Amino acid sequence: MESTKASTQTKNQLWAKKSITKLMEETSADPTSLDPISQEGTLKRTLTSTNLIALGIGAIIGAGLFVRTAAAAGGHAGPGVTISFAIAAFACALAGLCYAEFASMIPIAGSAYTYSYTTMGEFIAWIIGWDLVLEYALGAATVSIGWSQYLNALFYDFFKFHIPYQWCHSPFQISDGLGMYAGEAGVHGIINLPAVFILLMLSLLLIRGTQESATFNNIIVIVKVSIVLLIIALAWKFINPANHVPYLIPADAGTATLSTGQIHNYADPLNHGWLGVLRGAGIVFFAFIGFDAVSTAAQEAKNPQKDMPIGILVSLAICTFLYILFSHVLTGLAPYKEFMGHGGEASVVYAITHYMPGYEWLASLVTVAILAGFSSVILVMLLGQTRVFYTMSKDGLVPAIFSKLHPKYKTPYRSQWVFFVFVSIFAAFIPDSVVGDMTSIGTLFAFVLVCLGIMILRKTDPNLVRPFRTPMYMIVCPLGALVCLSMILSLGWENWTRLIVWMAIGLFIYFAYGRYHSKLRAK
Ligand code: ALA
Repeated sequence: MESTKASTQTKNQLWAKKSITKLMEETSADPTSLDPISQEGTLKRTLTSTNLIALGIGAIIGAGLFVRTAAAAGGHAGPGVTISFAIAAFACALAGLCYAEFASMIPIAGSAYTYSYTTMGEFIAWIIGWDLVLEYALGAATVSIGWSQYLNALFYDFFKFHIPYQWCHSPFQISDGLGMYAGEAGVHGIINLPAVFILLMLSLLLIRGTQESATFNNIIVIVKVSIVLLIIALAWKFINPANHVPYLIPADAGTATLSTGQIHNYADPLNHGWLGVLRGAGIVFFAFIGFDAVSTAAQEAKNPQKDMPIGILVSLAICTFLYILFSHVLTGLAPYKEFMGHGGEASVVYAITHYMPGYEWLASLVTVAILAGFSSVILVMLLGQTRVFYTMSKDGLVPAIFSKLHPKYKTPYRSQWVFFVFVSIFAAFIPDSVVGDMTSIGTLFAFVLVCLGIMILRKTDPNLVRPFRTPMYMIVCPLGALVCLSMILSLGWENWTRLIVWMAIGLFIYFAYGRYHSKLRAK
C-alpha cells in the first residue's frame, strides 16, 4: 500500500512544475542565479529590439552557411539547396512563434529548459535541458571544426603553408590528395588541433567573464552580413547557369567520394530529388540554429513582450533572405559534386579561388571575416551551454560543480572547463558532418517539444498571461512539430540512433541522479 502511494507520488513529481511567480522572485532576489555571466549583480534591461535582432543574427550566421551549405548541396540537394533553406526557415518560423510565446510569457533567462520547467514539469524540462547539450555543445564543436578549415585556408592563402593533414582532421578522415594536400593522398587524420585551440581560447575568455558586449556583437554582425552581401554581389556574374541544371540531383548522378573515404551514392533515395532536398533541409537547418538564443536574453530586453517576437522573427527573416541568395550563388559557381571532395572544406574560399578569377583578395577577406564570425557563434554556444547547465545545477538536476562560480570573475569556471573538455573531444576526433547532423537533430527535437508544449499549455493553462500569442496555434504548433519531425526523419537512421542513445544516457542520469537531488522535489 505504502509503496503504491510512494510510487504514485514519485510519478506525479516527475511532472512537478516550478511556479512562475516564484521563479520571477528568485530572479529578482538573486539575478546571478539565472545569469552567471552578469558580473554586476543585476542584469540591466538595456537591449532594444534592434539589439535583439543583431544578437540573433550574431548567433545565427556561421558554419551553417559557410560549411553546411556545401555539404547539403554536394551530397543531397544540389542547387535545390535553396529550397532546403526555405523549408528549414519555414520550420524555424513556426517554432520561432512558439519560442516567442514562451519567451514573452516567462521573460527570464534560461531558454527552453526554464520554460518547460515552469509549464510542463521537471521530466520534460530535463529532457529538453539534456537535449540542448546537442544544440549548444555539439554546435560549438561543429563550428570550431569549420573554424579550423578556414584557418587552414587562410594560412595557405597568405603563406602557401598548410597545417599537416593529420593535425587538423579527425581519425575518420582521409586525404584525397587534392588541393593544398596535393601528393598527400591517403593520409589519415589524427586530431583536429586548431578546433581545440579556438575552443580553449574562447573558454578562457568566458572564464575571465569577458562578456560579449552588444557593441562588439553589432560589429561582428555588420561584418558578417557585409561579407555575405559582398559575395552575393560580386559572385553573381560568375554564376554558370549550366551548374543549375538540373535543379534537383537526378537519381542517375552516379557516385562521389567522401572525405571519410566512403563512396556516396546518389541513387540512394535521400541523396537525390525531393527527398534529397528534404535531407538538405535537415542539414542546413544548422544554419538557423541560434535564433532561439535571443530568447535567453529576455531578462535583459527593455520590453520583452513586444521585442522578443520581433527579435526572433526578424533575425530569422533577414537570414533566410541572405541564405537563399547565397546558396544560389554558391551552387552557381561550382558543380555541386565538387563540394563532396576537397571542395567541401572551406567551400566558399574554394569556390572563389577556383571560379572567380581575379578575386583572390575576396577569398582572404572572406576568410578573416568568417574566422571572426565563427568565433562569435562558438562563444554564444559555449555561453548558452554553461548557462543552461548552471540553471539545471541550481535546480539540483546536475551536480553542483556546474554552478560553482569563480571567486573573482563570478563565472561558472568549472563548468566551462568541463564543457571545454567535452566539446573538444568531439571537435578533435569526429568529422564535422557527424557532429553537425547531431546538432541539427538535437535542436529539431527540442523544437518539436516546444511546439507541442505551447499547444498543450493552451489547453491545460488557458489563463496564463500571454503577452505574445502564437497566431492560429492549432495550425502553427502541429505544423511546426510536423515539419521538424520530417526533417528529423530525413536525417537517417544513424542520426536517429545517435539521438536515441544520447537521450537514453540522459534518462539514465535523471533516474539515477537528478530525481534524487531535485530541489523542487525536496521542497
Ligand atoms: N547557426 C549557427 C551556424 O551556422 C549555429 O554556425
